[in-house]
Amino acid sequence: MKSILKKLTPEPVIAWLRGVESDLKLYHETIRQMRRFRRSYARRGTVGKTQVESRLIFFTHQIEKGLSHEHFRYGFGKTVLAQFAPLLKQLKNMDANVQSNPVWISALDALHEYRVRHEEVNKDLAYARKLFDPAIWDAIGEADGAHGGILVIKAADKADNASRPFRELSESRHSLREFADEPVTADEIMPCIDVAMRTPSVCNRQPTRVHVITDPDVISKAMPLQGGYRGYAMPPALVLITADNRAFMSQDERNEGFVDGGLFGMSLLLALEEAGLAACPLNTMLPAKRDDATRKLLHIPDSEFLVMYIAVGHFLPESKTCRSQRFKASDITTVIA
Ligand SMILES: Cc1cc2nc3c(=O)[nH]c(=O)nc-3n(C[C@H](O)[C@H](O)[C@H](O)COP(=O)(O)O)c2cc1C
Repeated sequence: MKSILKKLTPEPVIAWLRGVESDLKLYHETIRQMRRFRRSYARRGTVGKTQVESRLIFFTHQIEKGLSHEHFRYGFGKTVLAQFAPLLKQLKNMDANVQSNPVWISALDALHEYRVRHEEVNKDLAYARKLFDPAIWDAIGEADGAHGGILVIKAADKADNASRPFRELSESRHSLREFADEPVTADEIMPCIDVAMRTPSVCNRQPTRVHVITDPDVISKAMPLQGGYRGYAMPPALVLITADNRAFMSQDERNEGFVDGGLFGMSLLLALEEAGLAACPLNTMLPAKRDDATRKLLHIPDSEFLVMYIAVGHFLPESKTCRSQRFKASDITTVIA
């Protein structure tokens, strides 16, 4: 009976019915995904250990960014420290082995550098000392700075990048947010996009699209809308990676563009590093108004999701950047044997 009905039903009707079914699934599964996200994410006031650690990594990163500025601003990060201090106490109370917790170590190291930089030149730190538990303030003073704070990156060390083995290239790539004044042309970036074209994608459907922006006026309008790059001079070039949803065939694939675009982004970051160009990935998790304004500014088709930006420039002779300490592979791996 079912097969007879199928044979008798014209294709446009089947397509319409399938479309309605797919729309309903898209709605329900998006809600289900939203609920799963809500149950776990590291919202303010969280009491979960992993979520507290995530927030601490975020604040460590904010301090590292402030420490890496070419024009260092004494007294920066007061609002960051106000949230940082109670979270550190929270982690200390919930982790019996906090001294060996990599998130704790990295946070204390970054704060150590913050403290030392101010103390070296006798800048007032009373505002910071007041925020921290006295024992934690002492621990910050005693930290050795080996796993948090800043790294110094030299342009001269990048000269032989084209012949470096993968592991070395990967280990020496760091996000840079301050660049030489020299412009970067689309022609310099194109060979790197060419390398990244080997990035795999679902069924080889290649949803990634790349928008290269070198117009300083457009860059200076796009960056404030991005929002995560405050306090830095504009980058000489900006690459926007998007995913074209016309490559996808069912509602199950609604997030695939972010995966494929993210993989492409990593390939491109390494290709830029190999070419001796400095870069920093930047998020495009924009609230609706800024998303709309960005789309309008850059003429992004409605069919595309924004995946990420990459700021690109030439290396300064020497610059500082965030250490961004990593977990160990064994910390994040579960083996199912
Ligand atoms: C998808 C993505 C979005 C990011 N967004 C920002 C951002 O908005 N602002 C920023 O300064 N850095 C941003 N970063 C850079 C990260 O802070 C950086 O990659 C991380 O700290 C690791 O450091 P590393 O790239 O030097 O290894 C982003 C990185 C990724 C992968």
